[in-house]
Amino acid sequence: MKAAAITWWIISVLVIVSSEGQSLTNNFSENQNKTMKMIMEHFHNKDHIRNGFKVSNVIKAVEIDYISGAFVNLEIELKQTTCHKSHWTKTDCGLLKNGRTFNCFACFKFSYHSEKILSQLLDCVATHQVEARVQRRNQSCTDVEMKQGFDKPGSYGFLKSN
Ligand SMILES: *[C@@H]1O[C@H](CO)[C@@H](O)[C@H](O)[C@H]1NC(C)=O
Ligand SMILES: *[C@@H]1O[C@H](CO)[C@@H](O)[C@H](O)[C@H]1NC(C)=O
Ligand SMILES: *[C@@H]1O[C@H](CO)[C@@H](O)[C@H](O)[C@H]1NC(C)=O
Repeated sequence: MKAAAITWWIISVLVIVSSEGQSLTNNFSENQNKTMKMIMEHFHNKDHIRNGFKVSNVIKAVEIDYISGAFVNLEIELKQTTCHKSHWTKTDCGLLKNGRTFNCFACFKFSYHSEKILSQLLDCVATHQVEARVQRRNQSCTDVEMKQGFDKPGSYGFLKSN
C-alpha cells in the first residue's frame, strides 16, 4: 500500500516536471528553438558532462529583428537527470536527487537569407559561477547583437568555460 502510494507520488512528480519542461519553451519562436537545440548539443558534447540535463527554468528569452539579421538571446537553467547524456532528448528522465545545476547563456545572430549563423556565443557554467561572468557575457553578447551581415561571416565567440 505504502509502496504503491510512493510510486504514484513519484510518477506524478515526474509528469509535472516533464510537462513543465514542455511549457517553458512552448511559446518559443523558430529561432529560439534553434538556439535551444544548439545550447543543448553544445552542452552535452562536453567531456565532463556524463548525464543528460533538462531545462528547469528559462531566465531570459529575447528576440530582436535587425536589418542585419535576427538576434536571439537565451539564458536557461539546466538540471541533471538520471539518464546518460546520450539519452538527453528522452522526456522520461527523472531529476537526479542533489544533482548539479548549470546556467547556459547563448546569443545568436541569424541571417534571414540563408541558414548561416552570422555570429554566436555559447556559455554554460555551474550556477555559482554565473555572477563572475555577467559583465563579460553582456559585452560578448552585444558584439553578437551588433554583428553586421557583410563583414567576416561565420565568426565565432566562445567564452572560456571551466
Ligand atoms: C518551439 O518548441 C516548442 C517546444 O518543443 C514548441 O511547442 C513550439 O511550437 C516551437 N515553436 C515553433 C515556432 O516551432
Ligand atoms: C514566452 O513567455 C514568457 C513569459 O510567459 C515571455 O517572457 C517570453 O518573452 C515569451 N516568448 C515569446 C517568444 O513570446
Ligand atoms: C547588457 O547590459 C545593458 C545595460 O545594462 C543592457 O541594456 C543590455 O540589454 C545587456 N545585454 C545583454 C545581451 O544582456
